[in-house]
Amino acid sequence: MKMNSAQILARTGGRELRRIVYTAEQIQERVRQMGQEIAAHYPAGQDLLLLGLLKGSFIFVSDLVREIPRPLQVDFLVASSYGSGTTTSGEVRLLYDPEADLRDRHVLLVEDIVDSGTTINRLIPLLEKRGPRSLEMVALLHKHVAPHLVLEPKWVGFDAPHEFLIGYGLDHSEDFRNLPFIGSL
Ligand code: IMP
Ligand code: MG
Repeated sequence: MKMNSAQILARTGGRELRRIVYTAEQIQERVRQMGQEIAAHYPAGQDLLLLGLLKGSFIFVSDLVREIPRPLQVDFLVASSYGSGTTTSGEVRLLYDPEADLRDRHVLLVEDIVDSGTTINRLIPLLEKRGPRSLEMVALLHKHVAPHLVLEPKWVGFDAPHEFLIGYGLDHSEDFRNLPFIGSL
């Protein structure tokens, strides 16, 4: 689906984007590759739980799980950083904690984007305490700006530019999540 500028502006409510960074087709192709790689990584017959970080990962999770050709289960976590806008503040709140028992299951955390690393540096130790059989992360986007990450994502969709990105689940003050591509503001 190729969108012309009028269709893009209809989606953004008239807000001009700086550029489209990844098209819907590029994302789809990359998600397909990652799904294959993830399926190949986990031993057959062992439980796999994908844990999506809301809200940003909701579209990525829904596309990714359909590209992983093996049995798996899905749950979500809400980890919200305070404030809105284009910068992440230091603190992370866990708003929803999945009931899912992580013990002895392969857990794959699904992130939309790794930026400062604050979110995952807080979350990973909490999840590790629950005794998963393994704990890995897949991130659609990685800005490679975090000074320290307690866990590097094992799979990364794209090494992202240092711009503020929106679309395909990513928001700016809750807007633009429904863009089928990823653009920069
Ligand atoms: P971190 O804690 O700084 O690594 O950022 C994690 C969260 O901040 C992501 O899960 C996003 O929700 C949000 N975020 C970081 N960079 C961007 C961006 O460029 N666009 C939209 N959201 C972002
Ligand atoms: Mg956000």
